[in-house]
Amino acid sequence: MLPQSMLRTCHLLVLMLCVSAIEDFDWTKNDHGSFYYGVFPTGFSWGAGGSAYQTEGAWNVDGKGMSIWDAFAHKKGKIFLNDTGDFSCEGYHKVKDDISLMKDMNLKHYRFSISWPRILPTGIKNENINEKGIRYYDDLINKLLENKITPIVTLYHWDLPQILEEKYRGWQNASMVNLFNDFANLCFERFGNRVRHWITFNNPWSIAVEGYETGEHAPGLKLRGVGAYKAAHHIIKAHAKVWHTYDTQWRNKQKGLVGISLSGDWGEPVDISNQRDIEAAERYVQFYMGWFATPLFNGDYPQVMKDYIGRKSAQQGLGASRLPVFTAQEKSYIRGTCDFLGIGHFTTRYITQKNYPSGRGNSYFTDRDLAELVDPRWPDPGSEWLYSVPWGFRRLLNFVKKQYGNPMIYVTENGVSEKMMCTDLCDDWRMQYFKDYINEMLKAIKDGVNIKAYTAWSLLDKFEWDEGYSERFGLYYVDFRDKNKPRYPKASVQYYKSIISSNGFPNQRELESWKGKAIETCSSSNQLLAAGKSNTSHYSEELGGAKTKTNCYFIQSLTGILFVLPLQLEDCPRKIRNLQES
Ligand SMILES: *[C@@H]1O[C@H](CO)[C@@H](O)[C@H](O)[C@H]1NC(C)=O
Ligand SMILES: *[C@@H]1O[C@H](CO)[C@@H](O)[C@H](O)[C@H]1NC(C)=O
Ligand SMILES: *[C@@H]1O[C@H](CO)[C@@H](O)[C@H](O)[C@H]1NC(C)=O
Repeated sequence: MLPQSMLRTCHLLVLMLCVSAIEDFDWTKNDHGSFYYGVFPTGFSWGAGGSAYQTEGAWNVDGKGMSIWDAFAHKKGKIFLNDTGDFSCEGYHKVKDDISLMKDMNLKHYRFSISWPRILPTGIKNENINEKGIRYYDDLINKLLENKITPIVTLYHWDLPQILEEKYRGWQNASMVNLFNDFANLCFERFGNRVRHWITFNNPWSIAVEGYETGEHAPGLKLRGVGAYKAAHHIIKAHAKVWHTYDTQWRNKQKGLVGISLSGDWGEPVDISNQRDIEAAERYVQFYMGWFATPLFNGDYPQVMKDYIGRKSAQQGLGASRLPVFTAQEKSYIRGTCDFLGIGHFTTRYITQKNYPSGRGNSYFTDRDLAELVDPRWPDPGSEWLYSVPWGFRRLLNFVKKQYGNPMIYVTENGVSEKMMCTDLCDDWRMQYFKDYINEMLKAIKDGVNIKAYTAWSLLDKFEWDEGYSERFGLYYVDFRDKNKPRYPKASVQYYKSIISSNGFPNQRELESWKGKAIETCSSSNQLLAAGKSNTSHYSEELGGAKTKTNCYFIQSLTGILFVLPLQLEDCPRKIRNLQES
C-alpha cells in the first residue's frame, strides 16, 4: 500500500494536470482590442524572404538538375497561363542587386531556400555534387554577411529533385528520409560555418496536401485520403533525422538552430458559445498546424486526428487507419526536435461542425468533419483564399504558446498579394495589412508569446506556384515582361522601412506621416515603371487584350472559369466577394 502522503501527492499531481488542461487555450474569449502603440523588444529581427524555385530562375544553368517543379510547370495546363519558373526574377544572376534592396530597407535577416537539385542534380550525395551550385549559395551567404544581414536558410521549399520522384515516388517513399538527411548534412558541412538558422521544411502541409492529395502542386498526385498522410509521415521523420544529425555532428562547432516552418490559418468557431463549433475549430487547427507541430513537440499526432481518421478508416472497412502510426521508439526520437518554430500565417476562417458520412470518397478535407466560412466584410485584397483578419494572427500565436510550451517563434512568412495585373505601386492595402498584422503580433508579445523575428513575405513579386505570375506578394514589383526583370519599390517598402526603423509603432502622429511619405515615393516609382513598360505590353494581349486606360485589370477564377475584368484604378484593390463554403 502507498503511504498516505504519497497518495496525496499523486492526487495533487492529477489535480494540477487537470488545472493545466483547463488553462489550455481559451476559445471563448476573443478580445480584438484597438490599435496598440508600442515597440518591439530590443534585438527583434526584421526580415523578408523568398524561395529558390520562386525567384532564382536559371532552371537549367550551371549543372542544375530538374526539380519536380520544373517538370510540373513544363506540363501544359498545370500553371496559370502555362507559365513556368524558368526565368522568374532571375535572382540567380542578381544577388548583388537584391542585397542592396535589403540593405536599403535595413533588414536584419533574409530568408531563402537552397535548391536541392542545384547542388545535387540527381538528388543523391554520393553520385554528383555540383560545385557551381554550391558556389552560388556561398556567394549569396557571404554577401549577406558582408552587409550584416543574417541568412535564414530553408533546406526544402518544395523543389524535390525530379529523379527522386520518378525513382521513388518522392515523399510517398520512406527512402526520402535518408536522402534528404544526406543533402542536409552536406549543407551543414559546406555552409554551416556561416549559417546559424536552418529551417528543414517550408510548409509541409502544402507539400503533403497540395502535392499528394489535391494534385494542385508538384508532383500533382491525387492520392485522396492517403497520400498526404503518408507524405507528412515521411517528412516528419526526415525533419527529426536532420535535427539529430545537426545535434550530434554539428551543433558543438556551429552553434546554430534547426527548426521547421509550419503554415497555419487560424480557425475561429463561428459561435464561441457553441461547444460543437469550438471543437470543430480546434480540429481545423489540429489538422493544419497541429498535424506537424504536435509530433515535433509531443511525439505523436494530435489525438483528434488519430480518433477521426481512425474511426473513418474503420467505417470504410479498412484494417488500419489511413493515418500512419509512429512506433514508441520513433515517438521519442521525434519529440523535442525543434529549436525554434517557424510560422507562416496569412489568413483566418470561421469554422463550424459539418458531418461527412464516410464511404463517399474520403479525403483529408472530409476527415475533419467541418466547414470553412468567411465573413464577407473581411477585406480580401489578394489571392482568392486570402482575407485580411489580423486578430486571427494573435489568436494563433497564443494557441501555439499554450499548446507547445511557449516555444521560440520565428514568423517566417506573413504578407498579402494583389490578384491583378496592376501597374499601381501605391499598395495601400498591403501597408494596411502589414500594419494590422504586425500590430497583432506585438499584442501577442505583450501576451507573453516568445517571438524573435518577423519575415515579410515576400521581398519580390515571384512565381506563385500554380497561380503563375498572377499573384504578386512582393514588397518590390518585378516587371516580368522585361527580360532584365527590373524591380520597382511599392509604397509598402517605405512603410515597412518605417516600422523597422522605429522597431514598432511609436505613436499615432508618427504613423500618419509614414503613409504620406510612402505614397510620395510610390508615385514617382509609378512613373518610372510606366516609362519602362511602354514597349512591352504583350502580357495584356495574352489575356485577350483586356486593357483599360489604367492598364489595371484583375483575374478571378471561380469554379475553373477565368474572368478577366477591366477595372478603373480606384476599383483596383477590390474583388468579387463570395461568401464561400470551401
Ligand atoms: C495552356 O496549354 C494548354 C494545353 O496545350 C492549352 O489548351 C491552353 O490554351 C494553354 N493556355 C494558355 C493560356 O496558353
Ligand atoms: C521505395 O523505393 C524503392 C526504390 O525504388 C522501392 O524498391 C520500394 O518498393 C519503394 N517503396 C514504396 C513503399 O513505394
Ligand atoms: C523597344 O524595344 C525594342 C526591341 O526590344 C528596342 O530596340 C527599342 O529601343 C525599345 N524602345 C523603347 C522606347 O524602349
